[in-house]
Amino acid sequence: MAKLQAIRGMNDILPEQSLSWQYLERIFQGVVRRFGYQEIRFPVLEQTELFKRSIGEVTDIVEKEMYSFDDRNGDNLSLRPEGTAGCVRAADQHGLLYNQQQRLWYAGPMFRHERPQQGRYRQFHQFGVEAFGMAGPDIDAEILQLAASLWQDLGLTDYLSLEINNIGSAEDRQRYAAELTVFLQSKVEQLDDDARKRMHSNPLRVLDSKNPAVQEALQGCPQLGDFVSSESVAHYQQLQAMLEAAEIAFTENPRLVRGLDYYNYCVYEWTTESLGAQGAVCGGGRYDGLVEMLGGKTTLAAGFAIGIERLVLMLESLHKIPDSALHPVDVYLLVVGDKLAAQGLQLAQQIRSHYPQLGVVAHCGGGKYKRQLKRAFSGGARLAVVLERDEEGSEPLQSLKIRRLDDSGESETVPIDEIIPKLGEFL
Ligand code: HAM
Repeated sequence: MAKLQAIRGMNDILPEQSLSWQYLERIFQGVVRRFGYQEIRFPVLEQTELFKRSIGEVTDIVEKEMYSFDDRNGDNLSLRPEGTAGCVRAADQHGLLYNQQQRLWYAGPMFRHERPQQGRYRQFHQFGVEAFGMAGPDIDAEILQLAASLWQDLGLTDYLSLEINNIGSAEDRQRYAAELTVFLQSKVEQLDDDARKRMHSNPLRVLDSKNPAVQEALQGCPQLGDFVSSESVAHYQQLQAMLEAAEIAFTENPRLVRGLDYYNYCVYEWTTESLGAQGAVCGGGRYDGLVEMLGGKTTLAAGFAIGIERLVLMLESLHKIPDSALHPVDVYLLVVGDKLAAQGLQLAQQIRSHYPQLGVVAHCGGGKYKRQLKRAFSGGARLAVVLERDEEGSEPLQSLKIRRLDDSGESETVPIDEIIPKLGEFL
């Protein structure tokens, strides 16, 4: 019978790669803890309406990329394509938002039916942070500082650059969109089908068209910057001053509009050149209108999400994952000869309880010394502890050998009751 395969664009993360993920998760959790953010978990499946209302009906995500279906009750549901909508729904439903301040984080799988390629998948994972109830721009600067701390801890600061833009309020954008539509109508001959469609429904999305002919037609178009309110400009300028004070480098990109409709005021993206086409690693901004759009009370809000796969690809290709994170086994216990298995398991347990920070593997399944030693090397262990009975040796064993699995090959035979302090000397 033919074997079944994973769905295209949905990856299995195998044990070796999981080590990189776990490393990244530990660093991320350390950073959010230091900034006082708390974890929230919410379902991968929500009502389709939630994403339509928040991300926007005329966006790539909602128009083309959602995994939506009717369930057995006839309810239309979708796998979450991002985390912000679900986070807001959950926080509001449980009364965390009204008249409160919250700093939240989440991590988990998201689903978008995009064309898969390196760095772009149909099931991918995000780390996100969302902060509620703060007007900013201090909270916006804090969120960017959090991202910058993460890059620092991962050794990626030099490989990521921050672009920011001020997209004003929803009303500012409506006024701008009307002007832009008039402009685009005057260039309709030069537009492609997509741009012609978007020209009326969501003209701002025409701005980041990849088609050179459309970009050519956009020359001389009205600029969003001329339509944004003075409050939005003041917010943006203060944010820039705070970023400068925090020594976070950025550039302004007036074309940065983001692919989701819920933003206002400042938006941003961290991008890298080390990943080829899929260079956006982290994106976010303010979204003060979203809670209300989903039926809650007006709530100030801001946040970002990071694509975990893209970050892992970066860390791997730049060799930024420390060796210790990639080799979880520290001590490999060789158990050579019959009847030593029980003693081996017991000894391994004794080592674990004295040195809980170590990964200790006791060889199982028997076999010759050489084969077991090979296992110890291939697992990346630093030390081998060898439990081996000599010809006339007594049981249980009275002594064993500790061996360094490095070039020195240093080893020492030790009485069994001295194993704990002796291991301490070797570590
Ligand atoms: P987004 O820009 O759509 O924003 O996604 C954030 C990040 O997720 C991207 O920068 C990218 O690294 C990663 N990503 C997106 N799509 C894929 C894919 N198909 N394959 C691999 N990685 C991908 C949001 O999702 C917003 N919810 C961010 C946010 C949070 N805004 C405010 N709070």
